[in-house]
Amino acid sequence: ASEVEITDYDFPYEGPFGAFDQMQLQRGLQVYTEVCAACHGLQYVSYRNLHDEGGPGLPEDQVRAYAAQFETFDEELDDFRPAIPADKFGKSALPEAPDLSLMAKSRAGFHGPYGSGLNQLFKGMGGPEYIASLLTGYEEAPACAPEDFPGYYNVAFGSGGFPESCIDEEGHHMVPGSWIAMPPPLLGDDVVYEDGHEASVVEESKDVTAFLMWAAEPKMMARKQAGFTGVLFLGLLAVLLYLTNKRIWHRAK
Ligand code: HEM
Repeated sequence: ASEVEITDYDFPYEGPFGAFDQMQLQRGLQVYTEVCAACHGLQYVSYRNLHDEGGPGLPEDQVRAYAAQFETFDEELDDFRPAIPADKFGKSALPEAPDLSLMAKSRAGFHGPYGSGLNQLFKGMGGPEYIASLLTGYEEAPACAPEDFPGYYNVAFGSGGFPESCIDEEGHHMVPGSWIAMPPPLLGDDVVYEDGHEASVVEESKDVTAFLMWAAEPKMMARKQAGFTGVLFLGLLAVLLYLTNKRIWHRAK
């Protein structure tokens, strides 16, 4: 993989007390549905999860209406029928487009320095930052690349083809990024948000990324809460053990 450019975007669910922003998840669902789903699938997520607390929190009737827009293949009927909340989002419509269910957890945005992994310790894995940077990372192919290459160039994507002419004598890549098979999916104002939120490329990217983070880790809020309770209990236990120790040994001191 080559050098890539990753922006450390801020998301509301970051930090020990962070939480998913319900409105942002709903906006992200809209971007996913209207743009990404044309090619990508979300095959491990069920429609009914859109109702879950801490997630997009759609009312049940809206989840039913949302699911009913799509068709799913029913093996018992041996035919297609409208989807119900218990069904899963579909598979990728385009075989080359990877499924996005776990994408936010399967990519890392931060590395190093020098292979130490310290950046991940301080900034997090950076899967969401990687996705948001990818969606905003389309640029003209670098000047050192051949002019006639038919394709898209992305400065956050490191695993695509890289122009030979941009590699120096020592084998280093002179510019970040690589070619990518995905055309720029977001150009700004691709959706009209119902809450009137700005639909710039950056905002749409952050919204759909937050939605994909929720899809990949829907129980993040419960996990943080359990962690916090655990730390609280351990703190209390430490105080009690200290006092117990003092009491048991007070005659020996
Ligand atoms: C790859 C996200 C829309 C086609 C990817 C990857 C992500 C992603 C995260 C994986 C990159 C990696 O492997 O590290 C999205 C999002 C979209 C969207 C969030 C909506 C905003 C689309 C659309 C198409 C598409 C509309 C089809 C026209 C592809 C293809 C790849 C890909 C073909 C494989 C790229 C390669 O390996 O060179 N996308 N995508 N995507 N996407 Fe999308």
